[in-house]
Amino acid sequence: AEDGYDLWLRFAPLDGVAAAKLKSQTPVVAPISEGDRSSTLDVAVEELERGLTSLRGEGDPPPAQNPVQIILDCGTEPGTGQSGFSLTPQLEAERPTFRIAAQDHIGCLYGSYALLRELAAGRGLGEISLIDAPAMPLRLLNHWDNPDGHVERGYAGRSIFDWWNLPGRLDQRMIDYARANASIGINGAVVNNVNARAFMLEPRYIAKLKRLADAWRPYGIRIYVSARFSAPRDIGGLDTADPLDPAVRQWWQAKTDEIYASIPDFGGFLVKANSEGQPGPQDYGRSHADGANMMAEAVGDRGTVIWRAFVYSAEDDTDRAKQAYDEFKPLDGQFADNVIVQVKNGPIDFQPREPFHPMFGAMPKTRLMLELQITKEYLGFASHLAFLGPMWEEVLTADTGGEKSVADVIVPVGMAGVANTGSDRNWSGSVFDQANWYAFGRLAWNPSMSSDAIAREWTAQTFTRKPAALEPIVRMMLESREAVVQYMTPLGLAHLMGTGHHYGPAPWVCDLARPEWNPCYYHRADRDGIGFDRTPSGSNAISQYDPAIAAQWSDPAAIDPKLLLWFHRVDWDHRMASGRTLWHELVAEYDRGVAKVDGFAATWSALESEIDPERFRAISERLAIQQTEARWWRDASIAYWQSVNGLPLPEGTAKPP
Ligand code: GCU
Repeated sequence: AEDGYDLWLRFAPLDGVAAAKLKSQTPVVAPISEGDRSSTLDVAVEELERGLTSLRGEGDPPPAQNPVQIILDCGTEPGTGQSGFSLTPQLEAERPTFRIAAQDHIGCLYGSYALLRELAAGRGLGEISLIDAPAMPLRLLNHWDNPDGHVERGYAGRSIFDWWNLPGRLDQRMIDYARANASIGINGAVVNNVNARAFMLEPRYIAKLKRLADAWRPYGIRIYVSARFSAPRDIGGLDTADPLDPAVRQWWQAKTDEIYASIPDFGGFLVKANSEGQPGPQDYGRSHADGANMMAEAVGDRGTVIWRAFVYSAEDDTDRAKQAYDEFKPLDGQFADNVIVQVKNGPIDFQPREPFHPMFGAMPKTRLMLELQITKEYLGFASHLAFLGPMWEEVLTADTGGEKSVADVIVPVGMAGVANTGSDRNWSGSVFDQANWYAFGRLAWNPSMSSDAIAREWTAQTFTRKPAALEPIVRMMLESREAVVQYMTPLGLAHLMGTGHHYGPAPWVCDLARPEWNPCYYHRADRDGIGFDRTPSGSNAISQYDPAIAAQWSDPAAIDPKLLLWFHRVDWDHRMASGRTLWHELVAEYDRGVAKVDGFAATWSALESEIDPERFRAISERLAIQQTEARWWRDASIAYWQSVNGLPLPEGTAKPP
């Protein structure tokens, strides 16, 4: 059944010219000599054989006269770089070959998946000639999975990790998970929530982690754990977790050694400290650097400590968007070499649109990693279609000043994506959400890939190669994130979702104890105007950016209207470049968002004959939900703004029913 379980690794049979070609070439994977074998190369051979058989779409091929030998040449090739590969067809030779070469075995596995991807997109063996390597060393998923099976901000069912039965039972899903990740170059997974429980570090869990690590090793995936900073107290019998206390340091050293004794290639720790009530070094008057460096010393050159920069505090009435920079910027240069500071794409929290995080332009002496959220906490969960490629392209290409893009800053380090996996048959809740997992992996591999190219690849492998169907699907994917921005938080508005669940509009909420949990903290609308003044007359968060960028953004006429209300508070009758007033433009944006979603539903319904009934119906139903809820967002938001500004709807606006 087409239930989505195979993700982008469906390898649906080729048709037409591509099928005929593959048939005549009858590629066969040349055996690997006993001395060169490894578990990774065994996977590569198995994947190639499985993929080719599936693409051919029939049983055993007839024995060909002169089949193309697919030769894996691994461990020798200079010049392809670590984990890189080259693909070289030599089809005209007397003994035709197709060579996958790499300097290490994982490079050969990546090359094998690349070959299958190209074939699945409909290209012939003779056209597939490329050299490629991952741009950045760390390409990690962060699972916000609790050990009890609940996934924080998960919309695809319970956790895929079966801690209960590990280490005795390894679910086949753990292998399929590794295949999916390896096929797009993901090379590490943090398997538990950043809001961590300390018992993940107990011996019984280390045994479970080891079983996963052993299963994933052939696929080049290292295991990481979120560590609770207070673990020495919680499970270690100490009465402090002060990072400068010798007993605490010794506890972490012993604990880390214990993990490495079981898992020699353990990736390291991810830490959320002094953020949203989590324990951290500041509980003892120490800095983030003191905490991170203490753990980094325990890990040594065996792995990495990834320290999150997502901090903001209830006691601090500074603009929330400023707080992480304020806390971390003074620590630039103080972190140990094996510490990475992981920064969310924007300064608040995974909103449909935010400007890039100012830390990316301000920490030249710190290894920074980008944190993206694949699961769509603030973009309609798995119910709304929103392909995040364009959002991530926007942040990666953003200029941080000094001619460095965000991608330039993070390429030496890496990227993390908060996973959207769950135990739903289709892994991600909706089939279209698989594209976000896919896009994350592809961008971590190559951050200059366009979201258009990624959407094309994914659609060809997931749904169809036929241009008449592929083109409209790609188009709707590429428009989908902007549609969500327009019907939820247009023109630079943010964080207007219901507090707690973050689904659905609640701009009217103003009375929660912590100011920054109130949507009205973010929009600041009243009779006269709307928006958050982050210029020097307001919070001056804008000063955290490069002066040239700050200067441009400080001018409400020069800033991209997409960020206007993030940085500026303007009157309702503020004149926009379009000639409309802010109020009229805002209403028009909501309408545009709704119209786009109606367009998606129409596009999709025209594709009925091209898509299998199971996935066609599942997506149709979700698009219908999105149509209803885009209107809910628009109508509730406009009604609320009207209750504040007393303005009539612009002439020609459709009245809510
Ligand atoms: C968001 C999210 C939380 C999460 C936090 C984090 O605020 O709502 O569930 O724990 O981000 O990234 O730490």
